[in-house]
Amino acid sequence: MTIPESGGHPGFDFAKIRRAQGDHVITSHMDRSQADSDLLVSNLVGRVWRDAHLPRRSSADLCSQSRMSNPYVNTPVPDADQYYPLNDPSIGKPLPAKPYPQNAKIPLLFQPLTLKGVTFKNRIWASPMCQYSSDNGHATDWHLVHIGGFATRGVGAICLEATAVVPEGRISPQDAGLWTDTQMEPLKRIVNFCHAQGTLVGVQLAHAGRKASTYAPWVHLNAAKTQRAPTWVAGKDEDGWPDNGTPTLS
Ligand SMILES: Cc1cc2nc3c(=O)[nH]c(=O)nc-3n(C[C@H](O)[C@H](O)[C@H](O)COP(=O)(O)O)c2cc1C
Repeated sequence: MTIPESGGHPGFDFAKIRRAQGDHVITSHMDRSQADSDLLVSNLVGRVWRDAHLPRRSSADLCSQSRMSNPYVNTPVPDADQYYPLNDPSIGKPLPAKPYPQNAKIPLLFQPLTLKGVTFKNRIWASPMCQYSSDNGHATDWHLVHIGGFATRGVGAICLEATAVVPEGRISPQDAGLWTDTQMEPLKRIVNFCHAQGTLVGVQLAHAGRKASTYAPWVHLNAAKTQRAPTWVAGKDEDGWPDNGTPTLS
């Protein structure tokens, strides 16, 4: 796994992981072609374009016995909803001790963990992190890239950010939600992507209580620290619900 020299994200201790990794050889994701990343356009536009232009083959077809045993076929992840090349072992799992003798003893961090019948490929888990970037509670491509990026780097599990069970339960107006069916599809897309990389996904169902209807941190205080809002409460003009009522959603 490629780990940046300077630990970047407060929710993800790269330095700690790098120390634990030591000299061990952990699988990383192969470089993806531009053609692949071009497919990740917007949720709907990308899917419509793909379905109209690209021949789709069923998972059974792609994973037929003869294809799977052909070493020159770029093997797909079985049962994924799109074509993704199969990483074997999965990203973030150690390569076998033969021919990598330094992998004979693997640090605990990179050993699998089974809890109540669910096996995580390693013990690197990403915490839930509010992105203040949802569209009426719907995950966007920001979330696919943010969460999917952890998956492509091999984390064992990810917990999706605080996800409100009712609109008025969001912390900020741009928080994630799961109070209506249309919010399922963009989340499912992210979960499918992560599963195809061998990463498990949880969700932090949430209600912000009295802390609801507040500004995103960078709205309250801008990065240059030249502007600080006099209050944390998001008003009606800012898509908030300061009277504790259900916000009007378009
Ligand atoms: C940008 C950001 C957003 C966060 N959002 C949430 C959240 O949605 N739910 C939550 O329980 N914790 C949230 N946290 C806290 C983290 O989940 C985590 O507990 C915190 O970063 C400490 O983790 P650490 O001890 O591994 O550094 C957030 C942290 C950050 C940096």
